[in-house]
Amino acid sequence: MLSDRLANALNKQMNKEFFAAHSYMAMAAYCEHDSYSGFAHFYVEQAEEERFHGMKIYNYLNDRGVQAKFSSIEEPKINFASVLDTFENALEQEKNVTKSIYDLTDLAWDEKEHATISFLKWFLDEQVEEESSFETHIDYLKRIGNDKNSLYMYEKELEKRTFTPDGD
Ligand SMILES: [Fe+2]
Ligand SMILES: [Fe+2]
Repeated sequence: MLSDRLANALNKQMNKEFFAAHSYMAMAAYCEHDSYSGFAHFYVEQAEEERFHGMKIYNYLNDRGVQAKFSSIEEPKINFASVLDTFENALEQEKNVTKSIYDLTDLAWDEKEHATISFLKWFLDEQVEEESSFETHIDYLKRIGNDKNSLYMYEKELEKRTFTPDGD
């Protein structure tokens, strides 16, 4: 049985994942509004991925006999300076999530809750991937700079992205 402290912390993380989905949808809307539909598509898929993360925790809480609590979702950032700016904000968001998964893992270790430690390992690995992929996108976008043709090509690449729960 999970302690209230750990159950609440997991619940909070579940809500954070759903907030991340909300925030990525705001980035999608910004890109779509500026007719960058390939980047918008990328963020819609990213939001899908975050909902999957939220559902993973929801299912874990259920498996451990805890009723998940859904909290109200704060308004995400909706104004950005550029497409690059959305990616920089996305990276910051992912770094915050990484920190909170670390804190959650510390708590699970503190309570010697081995099943939860094992469950969280997937999220730790996932965060390494997430940060690395956003860092790469930022590097590419910086390199592209004001070159409209290259930006178009890069956008076409990102447009191909589809989220599947087993891969990415
Ligand atoms: Fe996530
Ligand atoms: Fe993420």
